[in-house]
Amino acid sequence: KKDTIILAIETSCDETAVAIVKNGREIISNVVASQVDSHKRFGGVVPEIASRHHVEQITIVLEEAFAESGLTWQDIDAIAVTEGPGLVGALLIGVNAAKALAFAKQKPLVGVHHIAGHIYANRFEKEFEFPLMALIVSGGHTELVLMKEHGHYEVIGETRDDAAGEAYDKVARVLDLPYPGGPHVDKLAADGEESIAFPRAWLEEGSFDFSFSGLKSSVINTIHNAKQRGEQLKKADIAASFQASVTDVLSTKAVEAAQKYDVKQVIVAGGVAANNGLRTELDRKFTDSDIPLLIPPLKLCTDNAAMIGAAGFVAYEQGKRSGWGLNANPSLIL
Ligand code: KG4
Ligand code: ZN
Repeated sequence: KKDTIILAIETSCDETAVAIVKNGREIISNVVASQVDSHKRFGGVVPEIASRHHVEQITIVLEEAFAESGLTWQDIDAIAVTEGPGLVGALLIGVNAAKALAFAKQKPLVGVHHIAGHIYANRFEKEFEFPLMALIVSGGHTELVLMKEHGHYEVIGETRDDAAGEAYDKVARVLDLPYPGGPHVDKLAADGEESIAFPRAWLEEGSFDFSFSGLKSSVINTIHNAKQRGEQLKKADIAASFQASVTDVLSTKAVEAAQKYDVKQVIVAGGVAANNGLRTELDRKFTDSDIPLLIPPLKLCTDNAAMIGAAGFVAYEQGKRSGWGLNANPSLIL
């Protein structure tokens, strides 16, 4: 059977990304232009700035992806693009670029859910075995997703307030760390001691939902109260204690979900999957419970288009096609 080559575009947040992927499992090229420096001084992603950068970058990144691949348009079988969720103005740039290219080059168009992309980033490493449980931990999402077959997603738990990455970024801000704060808190935590007992939101018995806003408030209050008493808490200890709470809840719920649904594989996805504390804790708990655990390499954990190509390949093979009416959907459901 002939190879299937997908050109993929991702612009849901602050990375302009284009990739070319073969048969959903092989990266031919993967170019990511990060805007992080432009958003840093605002302490977060500014949607309007993100859109403007995407407009400026998209053709450059596209050309780079082709140059890196050595391929031409003739080799491309279909175009996959993130249609949601994300920032609507940012998504629109990718969706319209994909539509314009599909129209001009007469290629089929496939809309992809951003989280499906994060999940499929793992398939570059290892073939999926079903049923599998995916733990998605990013700046915008914290979800446990059960997959019984390719392209089918069942959300069994999700955050009721902040996403894990969002909690990291907010706590980082309180600790005067630069944006995005997750990696900085991670680094700081390595030098700290778990000396503060922050709360863990287990929620109702048997629930696979998450909540991180209480933890975030507790960190803020703890720092505030210490200041009032004239005490100076060690930032590294705050980071280590916060990280311990987050990773304990995430890993414990992931193991419980994996056991309940008797899965053959657990995969981790999203930017927070880069977290060293989480990796260590998941490794330890899943080794104990004897369920194979997959965590993608750092480069594939954060937003990129290769993962959209991997998820797009599966959708394309399953016959999914998007029409010219394809639109950015900031709250697209998985
Ligand atoms: O998946 P991603 O690149 O973008 C979204 O789709 O949200 O995730 C970005 C999030 C940010 O909140 C960032 O702080 C967090 O992932 N992050 C980390 C680490 N690296 C990135 N959080 C904790 N520890 C890290 N090492
Ligand atoms: Zn993401």
